[in-house]
Amino acid sequence: MWRSAGVRVRSTVAATALLAVLVLAGAVTGLVLLRSTLYSGEQETGSVQARLVRLSVTTAALSGSDATARQTLDTAVGAQADRGSHIQVLDADGDVVARSARLAGLPALTALRPASARVEHEVVRLPALGEDHRWVVTVLGADVEDRDFHVVVAESTADADRVLRWAGVLLGVGSPLLLCAIGVATWTFVGRSLRPVEAIRARVEGISARGLDGRVPVPAGEDEVSRLAVTMNEMLARLEAAQAGQRRFVADASHELRSPVATLRAAAEVWAGSGGSLAEFTTLVASESGRLETLVADLLALARADEGRLLLVPQEVDLDEVVEVETTRLRSVSGRTVQAVIVPVRVLGDPLALARALRNLTDNAVRHATSRVELEVAQEGDVAVLRVGDDGPGIPEGDRARVFERFVRLDGSRGRGSGGTGLGLAIVAETAAAHGGCVSVRERRGGGCVVEVRLPAGGPQPPSAARR
Ligand SMILES: Nc1ncnc2c1ncn2[C@@H]1O[C@H](COP(=O)(O)OP(=O)(O)OP(=O)(O)O)[C@@H](O)[C@H]1O
Ligand SMILES: [Mg+2]
Repeated sequence: MWRSAGVRVRSTVAATALLAVLVLAGAVTGLVLLRSTLYSGEQETGSVQARLVRLSVTTAALSGSDATARQTLDTAVGAQADRGSHIQVLDADGDVVARSARLAGLPALTALRPASARVEHEVVRLPALGEDHRWVVTVLGADVEDRDFHVVVAESTADADRVLRWAGVLLGVGSPLLLCAIGVATWTFVGRSLRPVEAIRARVEGISARGLDGRVPVPAGEDEVSRLAVTMNEMLARLEAAQAGQRRFVADASHELRSPVATLRAAAEVWAGSGGSLAEFTTLVASESGRLETLVADLLALARADEGRLLLVPQEVDLDEVVEVETTRLRSVSGRTVQAVIVPVRVLGDPLALARALRNLTDNAVRHATSRVELEVAQEGDVAVLRVGDDGPGIPEGDRARVFERFVRLDGSRGRGSGGTGLGLAIVAETAAAHGGCVSVRERRGGGCVVEVRLPAGGPQPPSAARR
């Protein structure tokens, strides 16, 4: 129940309960301290009065032999006593020798008998005095010429008790009011703080997978809630961009797949209708299904890259060997002058993925070269560098980042014969990224362009020897 009560209720209850405990403890401690302060004031007054009376006590007064001495003592006792205090002087036997007026005929008020020069106190009720409050009784032990006696002073606590009662009433009324105020303040403050959170929640609820273009309201200020809203909006923007990218990818892929499939169907219809040449038909089927196969393989590679499965079990790959095999192939089939500068470099990765990326680069180079294709493998510090260049038209500076995006073909190569699907360099970029590296294009000295792939070199290095 507590968990489902909500932050607002929980905060209010917790704050009020904690404060109630603190207020109660504070009130009790305060009252106890106040009482002891007030009563010790009474004790102090009693002690002073007892000491003053002690000065007037004489042997004669104690023995009762001298009426004048008794008279003097009675006067001194009467002078010290006031409306709120009564005094007795007791002899060694505890008999009352002198007393203030209200104590006439009463025995000793207390049984306390401290030793000479010592003071003791007690708080008692004295019904004999006919008043319903308590009294602070102070007893001073003293002696004169080896005769012990005690001065007893009873101080009324009526005034102190009245103060204590008022303090109790004030605390009793004030504390609940304070608790109510804190409860209301917490309720209001927490409610106000949570209002933007509720607004964010309601807006997020309305944002469906179909329309990720909604954004949550960002409250003014720089607090946690506004930071949450900003972060949430950034996340929504990323999700929207990812979703848009995915939709574009699916649309582009379908579009690319449609054309070979349509060609195949048209060819089949023509052949079935007019009984055209079987040789022509099979050639067309072979070429279009090859195109389809390449496209599907590229799409698969990119889907795998998106899932982070491009590089499942990395192994040591001799990059120089991969490039050497490709160089040999190019020299025999490309019809271009192929120059290769290769040093042994080992990387940690997937040999098939690396070979596919290299093939994408050399396909482009051969396709665009005027006459020359250049391959280079080098090691620069901890980095394995693979460069593929050609002396073709090159890539304009403004397009050099764009060509690594999916389905991007530059206009000049849109023609069916020369152009591919625009996935080759995207796969190269994904492969480089999966291997912890990067790829870039720059201008080639003497015309054309060079694509440079940089990968972290890894694995034990064989002794370096340049080969051409
Ligand atoms: N060596 C190059 N010289 C000039 N332009 C190039 C070169 N390499 C790539 N490009 C341009 O970059 C575009 C993207 O290249 P990418 O390899 O991604 O796609 P593609 O070659 O068109 O198709 P695919 O490789 O999927 O068959 C190409 O269409 C081409 O215009
Ligand atoms: Mg290509």
